[in-house]
Amino acid sequence: MPLASEQMQSAASQQLSKSETIKLRNKHIGQACQLFYRSDPLKIVRGQGQYMFDEEGTRYLDCINNVAHVGHCHPEVVRAGALQMATISTNNRFLHDELVQCAQTLTSKMPAPLSVCFFVNSGSEANDLALRLARNYTKRQDVITLDHAYHGHLQSVMEISPYKFNQPGGEQKVDYVHVAPCPDSYGGQYTDKQFPDADLGLLYAQPVADICERQLAKGQGVAAFIAESLQSCGGQILPPAGYFQRVYEAVHRAGGLCIADEVQVGFGRVGSHYWAFETQHVVPDIVCVAKPMGNGHPVGAVVTTPAIAQAFHATGVAYFNTYGGNPVSCAIANAVMRVIEQEGLQQNAQRLGEYLLRECGQLKQEFDCVGDVRGLGLFVGIELVSDRDERVPDTAAARWVVNRMKQLHQVLVSSDGPNDNVIKLKPPMCFSLENADEFLLAFRECLATLTCDHLQQARVAVADAATNGVIATAADTLANKTKLFERQDRLIKSV
Ligand SMILES: Cc1ncc(COP(=O)(O)O)c(C=O)c1O
Repeated sequence: MPLASEQMQSAASQQLSKSETIKLRNKHIGQACQLFYRSDPLKIVRGQGQYMFDEEGTRYLDCINNVAHVGHCHPEVVRAGALQMATISTNNRFLHDELVQCAQTLTSKMPAPLSVCFFVNSGSEANDLALRLARNYTKRQDVITLDHAYHGHLQSVMEISPYKFNQPGGEQKVDYVHVAPCPDSYGGQYTDKQFPDADLGLLYAQPVADICERQLAKGQGVAAFIAESLQSCGGQILPPAGYFQRVYEAVHRAGGLCIADEVQVGFGRVGSHYWAFETQHVVPDIVCVAKPMGNGHPVGAVVTTPAIAQAFHATGVAYFNTYGGNPVSCAIANAVMRVIEQEGLQQNAQRLGEYLLRECGQLKQEFDCVGDVRGLGLFVGIELVSDRDERVPDTAAARWVVNRMKQLHQVLVSSDGPNDNVIKLKPPMCFSLENADEFLLAFRECLATLTCDHLQQARVAVADAATNGVIATAADTLANKTKLFERQDRLIKSV
């Protein structure tokens, strides 16, 4: 359960033609809602493992879905949810074993003293509650966040999401939020090229320490520092060694708490550890989890220390969340954590991650448009550039690749980062060696075609220049090509 045949019956009950679905969506769903491949959207009607299927039965290899963590429609997860739904679904003001067992398993994966859970329905809710806990515990207001960060769609977390508020139509940054540079050693403020011998962890931690000092000088300190342990929207960023240790020290000195947003990168995705913050040898004060925890079902949690939880309790204002921690969500989360163990998915992420990094590193040797390859486990970023020496982001190339991967190869990847030029891979954790090879073959074809195309365009430019007496450089031609690619629709830009 579910059998492919059962799924197909259910999928067949999708009666509308694709164009009718599009028409109804355009009419009744807010246009601000993101749609992948807007000019030719996918109508996905079923999923299994690492594959998704459209209404015509075409199979797509899903390289981007870190929500379907243990695989789309994993039988054990589906069974656990269906059984609990058929038994009882109520709120957590009643005792229930699935709730306490979920908290026990979740906290058993965390270092001491992270032992108390609050259950929520999404990553946004988790981060919102984390801010409340921190502000209550510290009696302070100010929050430090990282440039390009995304922490959710609620008002409170939009305020700490430069990824959103820095967009042209975004809301202004509020005074009590402070933005520190994203610790991106390839394309950020301090790069390994610019500072080959420097301690980049120290360099990037300094702006956070400076904010803390300024806040202390004002007599205010900070309530919290929040960061994804590996920044996803920033373009699959691995902070330099020692970064979080130094940042945490500075924030604690300023009286603040440190929040790790593990909404995308938790539950074994990084391979070497269950949580990505562990790779930096730090213990956060608050950890937020969601997405993969429910494998497609909305469930999340905030995990913190007894002292922080007790201070929240001491306010006398009870915390209640109608669906947070309901038995169905907890049964599903318990099943997800069981499957990760039973199927060795963390180990699979490590093995496959190493393979992907090695093979993508090989592609970097062969193709100049690959500027950087980075990642941990099944969280990989491939940065495309138009000039490798100068590390010039190639947004158009990334968009083109994302589109071609879907259209020609039926492989779903996404792009992200400040310049939208980083191809992101964060597939379901059941991704296999064969899947990795399928991706690599398709990706190689795209890079090869892109390179040929660029060379061809450059030749045409030189010929034109000779004819017209105009100095048309290859760079100009590529810029024109970029404009061609810049269609109105935003391709996959997923979080
Ligand atoms: C790092 C991070 N934090 C928080 C969120 C918000 O989670 P949700 O969409 O479940 O509210 C997201 C969503 O993409 C995310 O990527």
